[in-house]
Amino acid sequence: MRVAPSILSADFSRLKEELDTVKSAEWLHIDIMDGHFVPNLTIGPAVVKAVRPHSDQVFDTHLMLADPEAYFDAFIKAGSDQITFHIEAVADVVEAIDTLHEKGVKAGLSLKPKTPVADLHPYLDKIDLVLVMSVEPGFGGQSFMEEALPKIRELKEWKAASGHDFDIVVDGGINKKTAALCREAGADVLVAGSFIFGSEDREKRIEEVRS
Ligand code: DX5
Ligand code: ZN
Repeated sequence: MRVAPSILSADFSRLKEELDTVKSAEWLHIDIMDGHFVPNLTIGPAVVKAVRPHSDQVFDTHLMLADPEAYFDAFIKAGSDQITFHIEAVADVVEAIDTLHEKGVKAGLSLKPKTPVADLHPYLDKIDLVLVMSVEPGFGGQSFMEEALPKIRELKEWKAASGHDFDIVVDGGINKKTAALCREAGADVLVAGSFIFGSEDREKRIEEVRS
């Protein structure tokens, strides 16, 4: 089990110090919101570029953008290692995945809670990760939606059947209790924002998410 602290819940006035407290996690989850695809705004490539030299973790960039493809280059240049976009936001999903691979980064697909997991099926043999949203995207600190659990199980079955390896990542409302449910269901990576950054003891929280 790998852990991806979501920097959305970090103290942005001291971002470098905040990142230093979560070094035991394998990934950093970076939420990018445009005020159109979701009703909130966050950060852009300038901030990703600014923190890149301070971390050697995987920069897992979650684009909640109405036109994600228009920003692929900017985030890759800023230092993203993998880029996840929402299938609801892209006209030609295969073309977008191929573009990311040609540019040398991993490609992920994300689903809002109400989008059926079957919508991903045509792309599963091409992608590096699936980001299962367990809250409506837009804000940290929301409660976990249990509807995510059957989706995780279904993806795990598909993964076993297809032979193509991809990471099943779960994002939203992860805490000690919901992390256990997701691990049992078959998640490979768990994103957690408010649970990790809401405590002074980040290492302990990361371990609670992990096991
Ligand atoms: C929500 C974001 C999440 C968010 C998770 O739209 O995609 O990554 O930071 O925050 P918590 O862990 O607080 O639910
Ligand atoms: Zn996210």
